[in-house]
Amino acid sequence: MRIVVTAGPTREPIDPVRFISNRSSGKMGYAIAEAACEARHQVTLISGPVAIDAPPNAKIVKITTSDELYEAVHQHVPACDVLVMCAAVSDYKPAQAATRKLEKQTREFALRLTPTRDILASLADENRSYLVVGFAAETHDLAVSAEEKLVRKHCDVIIANDVSGRDSGMESDDNEITIFFRDRDPIHISRARKKIIARKILKIVCESLEKRLTKKT
Ligand code: CTP
Repeated sequence: MRIVVTAGPTREPIDPVRFISNRSSGKMGYAIAEAACEARHQVTLISGPVAIDAPPNAKIVKITTSDELYEAVHQHVPACDVLVMCAAVSDYKPAQAATRKLEKQTREFALRLTPTRDILASLADENRSYLVVGFAAETHDLAVSAEEKLVRKHCDVIIANDVSGRDSGMESDDNEITIFFRDRDPIHISRARKKIIARKILKIVCESLEKRLTKKT
């Protein structure tokens, strides 16, 4: 199986030394890439800036901004069987990045933001040759929001995690997830190390891919 995994945060520049970003550590995406390498799949890991080592057998594509991630995903998906979109993409970017460092202001000032492109929603929905697995980071109404994102973002599968606490989800070594599908009941995976969760995700993704291929033939 050829799998593309995106991981980590994006950074949206304000000026040459400042940016807008989020708390994503990349640990979940890297754990999925590692589990896929262990299972001898062909792995492309498209990664935002993180402080962890990549699995030695993965092909690494480094990105910084959401626009770079958009281009990298569109470049690599046509030749993959599964896309796992684990990256925490910034929803907004500064309307204009200053080319010189902004000087300190003594008064309040407003930073004008513009929405970034939604990468998952931009992928072709019909007749695509690959399976799309999205992630949903939620602090409330997890099931409702995840099921809505599954449809709105044209995903085949969406993995929802609660990011409201410090002991699970973003930055943590642990996670607890619920996996939603288009055509079957959700599966809950109780709290465990991200490496363990990653192996379970990979198994479920492989089963979904097989089911999809069987349907097509
Ligand atoms: N995503 C994307 N492009 C964006 C933002 C998010 O492809 N510009 C992807 C993420 O990689 C993830 C999924 O969409 O797989 C859901 O991300 P999430 O942050 O939970 O959803 P948002 O669309 O940002 O919605 P909200 O912030 O309102 O929850």
